[in-house]
Amino acid sequence: MKACFPVVLFALAGSGLLAQGAPQSIKLPEPRHQGAMSVEAALSARQSVRTLARDSIALADVGQLLWAAQGVNRPNGHRTAPSAMAAYPLELYLVASRVSGLAGGVYHYGVVGHVLEPVLSGDRLREFVDGASHQAWVADAAAVIVFTAVPGRTSRFGARTERFVSDEVGASAENVYLQAAALGLGTTFAGSVQDTAAARILALPADRSAVGIMPVGHPR
Ligand SMILES: Cc1cc2nc3c(=O)[nH]c(=O)nc-3n(C[C@H](O)[C@H](O)[C@H](O)COP(=O)(O)O)c2cc1C
Repeated sequence: MKACFPVVLFALAGSGLLAQGAPQSIKLPEPRHQGAMSVEAALSARQSVRTLARDSIALADVGQLLWAAQGVNRPNGHRTAPSAMAAYPLELYLVASRVSGLAGGVYHYGVVGHVLEPVLSGDRLREFVDGASHQAWVADAAAVIVFTAVPGRTSRFGARTERFVSDEVGASAENVYLQAAALGLGTTFAGSVQDTAAARILALPADRSAVGIMPVGHPR
């Protein structure tokens, strides 16, 4: 499916921060539930890839990776990754730089409806690398998936809140690794993200902070 996000919306947003209530979501192509590669083959192929080509990746592949990370996979609304008491503390963002059919910008992944919700206009990858990642290889990514966590959703777990969030990031990130392997894409989970800078650059709501990133692209 082709993205129908009006480019004019970005042009109208002077600061780059898109107005509340602006025409919103970009429906992502429906995720595939069958693929050519077995789970065993994906596990055999899984590895961290940091040498990425500076070409574009398909919007359908971005959607597939986001679905693998946190997509709804059952009628009860539960997701591809497990969550303690189904509290779902993770919210995913996409720093899009070179995604076919998608304007450069920052997007929030809307789990319900499998949509991208525009947050900021313009390609923010360089700013994100310089301010929040400090790892040069990230600049070659076509897009960066940013894992953020809303600890308030898991505060009922008391002292285990932080641990449960980490557990969920790990499960979700592994899904992305396996899906990337099946799509022939390269990625690496990077935990060292500067959360204050990331919050500023991505205009994150105050209830959440960045806990890891997965830059993606075609392996070089
Ligand atoms: C919690 C965690 C944090 C990581 N942080 C980074 C990172 O900041 N930068 C990076 O390049 N790789 C990072 N990695 C990837 C590891 O370096 C990588 O998994 C390890 O070298 C093993 O290689 P493999 O994934 O190809 O098996 C991280 C992995 C994990 C699990």
